Amino acid sequence: MSAQIIDGRKIAAEIKAQVKKEAEEYLKRNGRKMGLAVILVGDDFASGIYVRNKIDACNENCINSYAYKLPATTTEHDIIELIHRLNNDETVDGILVQLPLPPHIRQNVVLSHISVYKDADGFLAENAGNLMLGNPSLNACTPCGIIELIRSTGINIDGANAVVIGRSNIVGKPISLLLLENHATVTMCHSHTANFVNFTRHADILVVATGQKGLITGDMVKKGAVVIDVGMNREGGKLCGDVDMESVKEVAGFITPVPGGVGPVTVAMLLKNIVKAALRLE
Ligand code: GUN
Repeated sequence: MSAQIIDGRKIAAEIKAQVKKEAEEYLKRNGRKMGLAVILVGDDFASGIYVRNKIDACNENCINSYAYKLPATTTEHDIIELIHRLNNDETVDGILVQLPLPPHIRQNVVLSHISVYKDADGFLAENAGNLMLGNPSLNACTPCGIIELIRSTGINIDGANAVVIGRSNIVGKPISLLLLENHATVTMCHSHTANFVNFTRHADILVVATGQKGLITGDMVKKGAVVIDVGMNREGGKLCGDVDMESVKEVAGFITPVPGGVGPVTVAMLLKNIVKAALRLE
């Protein structure tokens, strides 16, 4: 039997509808909209599209967006100065620096200047640390979206065997912590894991975030598993994931498509973070 496709666009629309309601109520109470500032440095094509999607999502859901599109030659000092200005701007509730930054700019240094309360991406050390400790925090958007996608299937995360492939700071590490927080038994695999298939074949939940097109095939997946494909690989003009949909859908119980899976819920969770940040400061 073929796997059920998890409709990320539909789930994102439901989250955004809730966000819009909260953002409209906030506007009524405060006489101003919530606001997100987005900093884009350079002219990376994919980053330009992602930023456009985030700004559109804000504008469609009663959240102001302030876009700062800076040339690739911008200095680290100038970006940090802008961040300090936005930290002190009461109309800005969230700040997002689109990654990657040009090579002459130290990403960690720049990000560390964002106020911990306006860290819309949840990338700061303090927010990442609070996630590890189980404290309230602004969490990275893609991992939060993945939890929503898994919950939408109705499977019980509590007690499930979850396998995460990839150990990035943006996806692999935080989704492992969120799954753990939800009482899954979590295994992390990465480029140095010997025979990762020995793990994936026992996974009730399989999250794949490697950037390797079609890495996971049907023979590597447990029957009935929930498979979340975080990959965004470009082939020709086409977008494809890290999971080979054709073979895996014959084995899995649920699977996310690319596009239309993780991407839309990531944007929806960004809006949720802005709401969280704004309500804290209200
Ligand atoms: N580049 C790729 N993914 C992301 C993301 O989630 N946030 C930011 N700021 N940059 C990215």
